Amino acid sequence: MELPFAESFKIKMVESIKRSTRQNRIKWIEEAKNNLFNLSSDKVFIDLLTDSGTGAMSDKQWSEMMLGDESYAGASSFFKLKNAIKDITGFDYYLPTHQGRAAENVLFSAKIKEGNLVPGNTHFDTTKGHIEFRKAYAIDCTIDEAFDTAIDHPFKGNLDLIKLENVLKSNPKENIPLIIVTITCNSSGGQPVSMENLKAVRQMSDKYGIQVFFDSARFAENAYFIKIREKGYAHKSIREIVKEMFSYADGMTMSAKKDAIVNMGGFIGFRNKDDYDDASVFNIMFEGYLSYGGMSGRDMNALAQGLYEGTEFDYLETRISQVAYLGQKLKDYGVPVQYPFGGHAIFVDAKKFLPNIPKEEYIAQTLAVELYIEGGVRGVEIGTLLADRDPETGINRYPELELMRLTIPRRVYTNNHIDYVAAALINVYDRRNGITKGFKITKEAPILRHFTVSLERV
Ligand code: F0G
Repeated sequence: MELPFAESFKIKMVESIKRSTRQNRIKWIEEAKNNLFNLSSDKVFIDLLTDSGTGAMSDKQWSEMMLGDESYAGASSFFKLKNAIKDITGFDYYLPTHQGRAAENVLFSAKIKEGNLVPGNTHFDTTKGHIEFRKAYAIDCTIDEAFDTAIDHPFKGNLDLIKLENVLKSNPKENIPLIIVTITCNSSGGQPVSMENLKAVRQMSDKYGIQVFFDSARFAENAYFIKIREKGYAHKSIREIVKEMFSYADGMTMSAKKDAIVNMGGFIGFRNKDDYDDASVFNIMFEGYLSYGGMSGRDMNALAQGLYEGTEFDYLETRISQVAYLGQKLKDYGVPVQYPFGGHAIFVDAKKFLPNIPKEEYIAQTLAVELYIEGGVRGVEIGTLLADRDPETGINRYPELELMRLTIPRRVYTNNHIDYVAAALINVYDRRNGITKGFKITKEAPILRHFTVSLERV
């Protein structure tokens, strides 16, 4: 008999989770104003809201916590992380930050001015938020294939080079401070960017004299897909692939809460010292002194260790196979999901799932609420709520895709949990024709509204 696949870890510590009844959940979600962010975690059985900061640290990471150096300036933990970043990414300079959006805030404070254009593949919401907050524009140059969930394309995170070149050649260089490539591209479904595309973006940026930064929250998952799917990389190690990927960037922002498997942390990596110096001023203002910037020494230690663990092939294979296990179960039943499956999550195509809900009634949010009521599973809307209103016109932006994301935390749930999630969503799918009413907004914030929005059934 061929030996089956099995996880590359065993479990040393466990945490209880509680089931609830459908009646409980109907009451709780109403009290939460139909916003899943408002639910306290004890009201959730399986939490697939995000893979950010929700992973399980290893025994080695926990032991690194004990070795943290909490000196204000020049802590050994800062240098441990510096060496790990250099070793894994090749960047000589770095600034620690408390998480990914803090890295964006610091870097963009140094780089982005009012009226600037920042092209890239679909920018993550905090990235776009930080660009628009500076009255600049995030220009989406993702390939069209990404917006059709049924098309099979190995690198749906790729930038369309024609779209990108159109932006670069029709605007003055001074107006484009940088290109941002998000690896993997979260907003289009955790989809990877190919090495060929990264290289081509670099060549084009050189031609126009513009810098390239990678939004690198899931860089290791991107490297795994390059190894598995791209010609010429099957025999390279994940770390070799990672090194080559970053060789095409001038720097990176990192939310370490994802691929570095820590609960909190981030950083900015830089190739050249001038960029580092420019951003340093803002790091001291917003995050903390240069050698800790929003993190404790122990957190920098755990992050350094996490960078190594997160770039191990066996770990990545375990993780990405689990995501695909969920995707395949849903796909086999006919549930419409973004295909191929992403690295960190399965994205359910809510427009196809709930064709009776008009786009004005927040289709993906409606689906996420139904799934919660069905099984106490918390997914997240990646749709109109997340897309916010146009900052100039105040009109709702309706993205091409309305997705419900089922995000898998790293090293946290077993495949029995995944079976439960699939069954709950399949039950909702079976009764989809009876779901005819969505939601309307009763209260919202002017930016990043999805976190705090209040909703009422239409
Ligand atoms: N960039 C990407 C691609 C992200 O996915 C995130 C966060 C960030 C930047 C911001 O990092 O949360 O550490 O400030 N994504 C989380 C998610 C929140 O659920 O996808 P952060």
